[in-house]
Parts: sequence; C-alpha cells; structure tokens
Amino acid sequence: MSKETEKLEAKARLEKVRELIRYHDHRYHVLDDPVISDGEYDLLFQELLALEARYPDLVSADSPSHRLGGSVAEGFTAVRHVHPMLSLDNIFSTIEFQSFQEKLQRFLRTDLPLRFMTEPKVDGLAVELVYRQGFLHTGSTRGDGLIGENITAQLKTVKAIPLRLQGDQDIPIPDELYVRGEVFLSKQGFQRLNQLRHQQGEPLFANPRNAAAGSLRQLDPRITARRPLDFFVYGVANPEVLPAEGQEALLTILSRIGFPVSPLVKGCGLPGEVEQQYQQVLALRHALDYEVDGLVVKVDTFALQRRLGFTARAPRWAVAWKFPATQATTKIEAVDFQVGRTGVVTPVALLAPVEIDGVVVQRATLHNQDEMKRKDLRLGDTVLVQRAGDVIPEVIKAVPELRNGDEQPIMFPASCPECGHPLARVQGEAAIRCVNEHCRAQQQQRLIYFAGKSGLDLDGLGKKNVEQLVRSGVVGDIADFFFLDAGQLASLEGWGEKSARNVVAAIEDRKRIPLARFLAALGIRHVGEVTAAALAEHFTSLHELMAADEEQFRRVDGIGEQVAASLSLFFQDPDVHRMIERLEKAGLVVVAADKGRSQPLAGRVFLFTGSLQTMSREEAKRSVKVRGGQVANTVSERVTDVVVGEKAGGKMKKAHELQLPLLSEREFIQLVSAVEE
Ligand code: IVH
Repeated sequence: MSKETEKLEAKARLEKVRELIRYHDHRYHVLDDPVISDGEYDLLFQELLALEARYPDLVSADSPSHRLGGSVAEGFTAVRHVHPMLSLDNIFSTIEFQSFQEKLQRFLRTDLPLRFMTEPKVDGLAVELVYRQGFLHTGSTRGDGLIGENITAQLKTVKAIPLRLQGDQDIPIPDELYVRGEVFLSKQGFQRLNQLRHQQGEPLFANPRNAAAGSLRQLDPRITARRPLDFFVYGVANPEVLPAEGQEALLTILSRIGFPVSPLVKGCGLPGEVEQQYQQVLALRHALDYEVDGLVVKVDTFALQRRLGFTARAPRWAVAWKFPATQATTKIEAVDFQVGRTGVVTPVALLAPVEIDGVVVQRATLHNQDEMKRKDLRLGDTVLVQRAGDVIPEVIKAVPELRNGDEQPIMFPASCPECGHPLARVQGEAAIRCVNEHCRAQQQQRLIYFAGKSGLDLDGLGKKNVEQLVRSGVVGDIADFFFLDAGQLASLEGWGEKSARNVVAAIEDRKRIPLARFLAALGIRHVGEVTAAALAEHFTSLHELMAADEEQFRRVDGIGEQVAASLSLFFQDPDVHRMIERLEKAGLVVVAADKGRSQPLAGRVFLFTGSLQTMSREEAKRSVKVRGGQVANTVSERVTDVVVGEKAGGKMKKAHELQLPLLSEREFIQLVSAVEE
C-alpha cells in the first residue's frame, strides 16, 4: 500500500474513532447512560492517540485528544466578553420573592402571573464558551464581567463540554453561539482531591467551588484534565440565533445539541409553584453529589426579558433565591473525647458559639484521629465549620493564616477518658475504641439509645434524664427501666409526681414489644433496624435467637461474618442473659414476628438511585420488603417513590421527567421508621 493510501485510510479511521469517542462521551457525561465499559473506551482513546501521533497534521481542532490538556502556558491571556457576563441579585425569603414578582409586574404593567424557569444554582465557576460554526473556539472565565481569562485548553479537558455541536434539521447550528454555564467539581471528587493533596503535603481546598476554580486556573491543562470537573449549561448570551422563544425551550435545544442540562430545572407557571420548587430542591440539596446554594428564577419569555433589561450589575428578569449558608468560621476552644455506645472514641471540638442556618453551633465532630491529623488541627485554631442539614456539624479545615503561635497540638488520649482502660485501634478501621465492655460511659450511651428514638422511644426519658438516672444510681442496665417506681422518681431533683407517673406509664406501654424493635433497641454493634428485622423474620422467639451460635446467625438473610460474630458475642454474655431474665420478670413480653401482620408499604413501589450514605442498597431494599412494599430497578409509571442517594444520575433525570415523587435518604429513613414493620 502506498504512503498516500495509508494516510487516507488513517484519516477515515481517525474520523470514525473521533465520532465514536464523541458519541460515548455524550452518553457518559451528558446522558449519564454509558453503553460501553471504561476498558473499551480506553482502547478507542489509545487508538486515537496512536493515529494522531503518527500523523500530527491530522489532529483537528475538535479532536477529543485535546481533553488530555495541551502544553503549559506562561500565563493566561485576556478575553473581552462581547456580551458582558453579569451577576444575579440575591433574595433570601418568600416575601422577597413576592416583591420581586410584583416589581416585574409593575415594570411590565401587567396583573397577569408570569411564567418562570427555575434552575438549581450550582456552586462552581461561571464560564463562557464561544462556538464558531459549531466548534468550541474560546472558553473563558467571567473575570470582572467585561474581561475574563482565556482558559480554552483547560475547558477542553472537561468531558461534559462538547467540543463540537450536533445540529439537525430543526436546529441549524448558528455561526456564533455564546454559551454560559457552570463548571463544578462533585463533592466526592473534592474529597478525593483533598485526600491526595494532603498526601502530597499541599494545602487543602475549603470547598468544591474553590477546588473547581483552582483546577481551571492551572497553567498546565494536563493537571486540569486529571480533575473530575463537570458542567451544566444555563444560558446563551445571544439566544436570538436559536429557534427558542424562552428559557425553557432554549435549555431543551441546548440539551439536544449536546450540552448537559441539570435534571432539576423546571418551568413554573402556576402560583406558588416557584416556592414549591425552592422547597423541593432545598430538600434534595444534601443528597446531591454537587453543591447547590440556591434556586435561580428567570422570567421565561425572551420578549419579556428584553423589555425588562439589565441594571449595571444584573439582569432585572432573574434572581438567585439563596439557600441558607452551611459554613461559618469560629475557634476551637477545647476538644472533648466522647465514648460511644460501642466504645468508639470520637474527638469533638468545643467551639466558640457560631450561628449557621439559624442554629447556634458549639460542638463539631472531628471524626477520628486520622481526620484530625489530616487537617492538622490545633487548639485555638480558627476553623471552617459546616452544618449541612441534619448531619452532625463537622470541622472542615483550619485557617492556618490566622494562627498567632499560641495554638497547641491536640493529643488523642491513650486510655479511655471514662474508665481508664487502654484504648485499642481495630485493624483496618479508623476508629479507636475502648474495649472494656463494662465501661460506664458505653453503658450509659446504650441506655440513652435504648430509651431514645431509635430504641423504645420512651416519652420523658431523653438524654438528660437518662444521664441523671444513671448518675443517681437509679438505673444501671436496661432492665432497671422496667423496675422504675413513680415515688422514687418523683423524689429526684427536677421531677414532679406527674412527670414521674407519665414515665412509668410510657414504660408500661412498651411491655409488649415486637422482637425486631427490641433487638434494634439493644444497640448491639452492627445490628441496626434492618438487621433486627431480618433476625425477627428468621427466628421464632427471642429465646431461640439467644441460643443461636455464630453459624446459625450466618444463615439469616443478609447477615455476614462480622455481624454474626457481634451477635454471638453479645448473646454469649451471661450478663445479657441475666438482664433479659429480669426484663421478663418485670413483665416484658417480646412478641416474635406475626406472619399475618399489617403491611404498611403494601402497594408502593420504590426505586433507588445513587449511593446511600447510611445503609447499603440491599438493606434499603429489605427495609421496604419487610414492610410489604416492592422494589423496582427501572424508572416507570409503576414507581411510587424514588429514593435519591448521592451521585444520582440518569434515573433521577427520568424520574423527574415522569414527575415521580422524589425522596432524600433522610426522608426515606423517616418514612420507614415511622411505619411499623
Ligand atoms: S444566570 C445574566 N443561571 O450564579 C445571568 N447563573 O450570581 C447571570 N449560576 O455567575 C447568570 N447557576 O456562576 C445563572 N442556572 C444559573 C446559574 C447561575 C449558577 C451562577 C453563575 C453566576 C452566578 C450569579
């Protein structure tokens, strides 16, 4: 074969390979629905690189090989934005949203309700992508709104950004398109990046937004290419070149020509719909794998947008309805080491009080020794604290720039701060624990757990009261609750006759108890509500279960080695047997599973998408099934509840399109724990 023919063949193959890679990039990064394995994709990519290495003059401007980043630049060049990149005015409440609406109506001299487009305000970095004849020509940062930095090479490495647009008969690709969107880093990607930076002794990023900014502003685009950056499109500065009359139609077109649009965008035309959508996205906020800090509300119709126009700073036709902040800075004043119900010792920072999202935060978890070391935290440090939803507040990082030299290292104790027993680190775990089963602190935590919401939920026996009963020697183990005497209780400080009688009545009320609930309340290590339900399903009585050995526990659906060992250790303890004997003496009746029991989730079909944080997918499915519900694996009209975990992708998008009810992991847990098995 002649050199020429060879080259012609290579050219044809190159075009084919590029087309395939483009197709698979789109499936993976835009549609969230890949159709080949990572391995197969890598092979295609290698073939592309090999061909381009052989024929450098065949490297095209839109070749996916640019995704790997090019050469290092000396600095960024300036880009003047043809259409200025403005900002958004912020609002924080329903009242402010109403006055925004009224202002629009006054301006437009109308009483008619307006149609809005709502979009999640993803917290990343605004970028502009200029497409010429359908090819990505220039990518830039916002800069001061008029002049930004040219980061074309860096943006080309973001796989969700199309290098070339895909038009069709209905949508001819315009000569010039000024696309705007947000580049962001997932929460997971951010965690991984920080871990890596820690290992390499580099300073940590405070949040995914800073990490995204740091990644884009790399003079060496090959570094950018290694960061898992993502992108959502949210607008076009010259929409008149596309066949769309409004924002909603525009986003549909942008999606069709190759851009990823957030699955959480929604057109709102009815009164109250925007407020509802605000609440909906706010509720999902913590389940999403990227930061969302508000809802952007835009007048949908372009004709009206043009009439409303801009102020110097922002468009009059849009606002950002912000979510409450989840982070604040404060000082670590001391560190407390708490012993949990299973003996795990958790360092907790005692903070100078600071308000976050309407709640005063004074304590924040430091998780464990490794995390403490990783973040290089010291007593007296100014720290960034995060309180995200119902998650326990946590210390994100120190601000070392604010140190004055008086800060002290934090020492992890060598022995249990409660019982003095030496602490042990379990192999393969980050946790350090007190292994003394008789440790008073652990015992107290178990009692609090037993009386608390995840246990028997005994009215009037919250944490403080249980601590008092333990301190005054009235309660030492679980059985003691059932021997409580109203007269004795009433004599304790802070108690009256009525509160004492109520507590005794609440306990009386729990004397007939389902086996699953009793097992879950015991607080056995690794045995939560779901495992307890599986055990109650398997064994016919509490006594049969108490007599089981490790082997028999392993036969229970979903129970593995670790859980079986923990169960057998617990039920081998003669103290446990004595305690259960006393409970029965006090009149406790543990009722084994009644096969004909009610099925509160009967008729409901659950679909899970994304990864759950507090339980495995299997556990979640089981907890639906034991309550009579069904589980589906694909999105359809049949599904009644969609549980959205972290990094939920294509399924959530489809569920949203079908307008199926979405539940966060928390809401799901609340639902299953509210209904009895
Ligand atoms: S529209 C002229 N839509 O929020 C319109 N902005 O404070 C200006 N952002 O710099 C932007 N999601 O980085 C718009 N769906 C969205 C957005 C969004 C995030 C960011 C963007 C902008 C900032 C405005």
